[in-house]
Parts: sequence; structure tokens; C-alpha cells
Amino acid sequence: MRKLILACLLAVAPALGVASEGAALEPFKVDLSNRAGLQRGARTFVNYCVSCHSAEFMRYSRVAQDLGLTAEQVQTNMVFNGGDVNQVMRVALGKKDGARWFGQVPPDLTLAARSRGADWLYGYLRSFYLDPSRPFGVNNTVFPNAAMPHVLVDLQGTQALHDGHLKTVSEGTLKPAEYDAVVRDLVNFMVYMGEPAKLVRYGLGIKVMLFLMVFAGLAYMVKREYWRDIH
Ligand code: HEC
Repeated sequence: MRKLILACLLAVAPALGVASEGAALEPFKVDLSNRAGLQRGARTFVNYCVSCHSAEFMRYSRVAQDLGLTAEQVQTNMVFNGGDVNQVMRVALGKKDGARWFGQVPPDLTLAARSRGADWLYGYLRSFYLDPSRPFGVNNTVFPNAAMPHVLVDLQGTQALHDGHLKTVSEGTLKPAEYDAVVRDLVNFMVYMGEPAKLVRYGLGIKVMLFLMVFAGLAYMVKREYWRDIH
């Protein structure tokens, strides 16, 4: 019996985050209902991430359609590599250069929110700290020894690690709460990208609920009509 309890505990440990590497993660509340937020997240993604990472399973035109943007808006504001709005989000960086410059090819990010989880992404993008022993001078508490530079450093500023806590060293152009909001929008966009059909399902879900409510009302009225003479 004891063995069984132990096995059960071990089985749920990863889900509880007990066995995860790096720092403890703050829970992230995914919100795909805020369209303006998703649009801002998409802009941050193409401005700061697509130079190194691709999102090869996502087309710019699909983003336009799902987030309520016109193809022209996306073409002029989001497609920077001279490509076309019907293309997938390809990266300018060649795989060989990526490996040479960073020691690692920056992975495709289409499904990052699904493989790593939104909590992890939200923590990762806020947890870079100065570490002169690393090639880019930064390390990360959530992803120790990550080969990625802190690409949002202008916005966040720099942090140092003291006794396991991150402390601001120099301020960026954004206040901490504003920076968190930018990262929140970005993570929500990445969650959407990992499963675009979620947005369609949400829209459909509300319609189905409304239909069921109206239908329940009608069914009740019919029931009363049928049983009126019997009672
Ligand atoms: C200068 C190039 C560069 C830019 C720009 C960049 N990254 Fe990275 N990123 C990397 C490299 C290199 C790695 C691989 C790190 C490793 O495995 O040690 C990485 C890894 C990651 C990972 C971990 C993936 C995984 O599951 O292992 C995530 C998530 C990520 N980046 C998100 C982002 C986001 C979001 C942005 C935009 C805000 C961004 N990156 C911009 C180079 C970059």
C-alpha cells in the first residue's frame, strides 16, 4: 500500500512542479478573449522574436484573420523579411548561423506554449539576470544556462540574482508592471499560436450556450403545454 501511495505521488510530482528544473513558477492566467492584447502580442513577437525563431506552422494571413486585422495591415506592420502575407512565419537567420552564433539553433516557437506551458514562458521572459560567465552576459532562473540573449532588455532593464531573488539593477524603458503586461500579451499570443482553433471554439461555445438557453426555455414551455390538462 505504501508503495502504491509513493508511486502515485511520483506520478503527480511533475504536474505539481516538484520535479521541474529552475525557479518556482507563478501561475499564468491565459486570456484569449482580449483581441487588442493578442494583436499587441503578435506585434512584439514579430518585432523581437522572428529574427531568430521561426513559427513555421503559422501563416501571417491566419493571424490576420483570427485577430481581426486586414491582410494589408499585417503585410505592412508585421511581415519584415520581404515576404508575403500568405507565408508561414519564417526566420531570416540560417540554421548554420544560429548554431554558430548561439551554440544552439533557436527552436521553432509555434508550439512552445504547448511544450513548455504558459507559466514557464511567462516566467522565462521575466527572469533573465546578469551573469558575466555566460556568453551573452545573462543567465535565466527558469531556464538555467539558456543560450538565448535577453532580447527584451531595453524594455525590462537588467536584473541581478541575490540569494535566489531577482533585483533590478538598471531600469528599462518600461516600468515593471508595464513590462509584465507586454510579456503577458506575448505569452497569450503564443498560446493562441499553439492552438489557433481555440479562438474559433470560444466563439462557438458562446453561441452554443445561448442556443441551449433559448432551447431550454422553449422545451419548458412545451412541457407545460402538454401537461396542463393532466395536472
Ligand atoms: C538573438 C536570437 C534570439 C532572439 C531574438 C530570440 N531568441 Fe529565443 N532562443 C534563442 C536561442 C539560441 C535559444 C536556445 C536556447 C537554449 O536551448 O539554450 C532560444 C530559446 C527560446 C525558448 C526556449 C525554447 C525551448 O522550448 O527550449 C523560448 C520559449 C524562446 N527562445 C522564446 C523567445 C521569444 C518569445 C523571443 C522574442 C521575445 C525570443 N525567444 C527571441 C535565440 C533568440
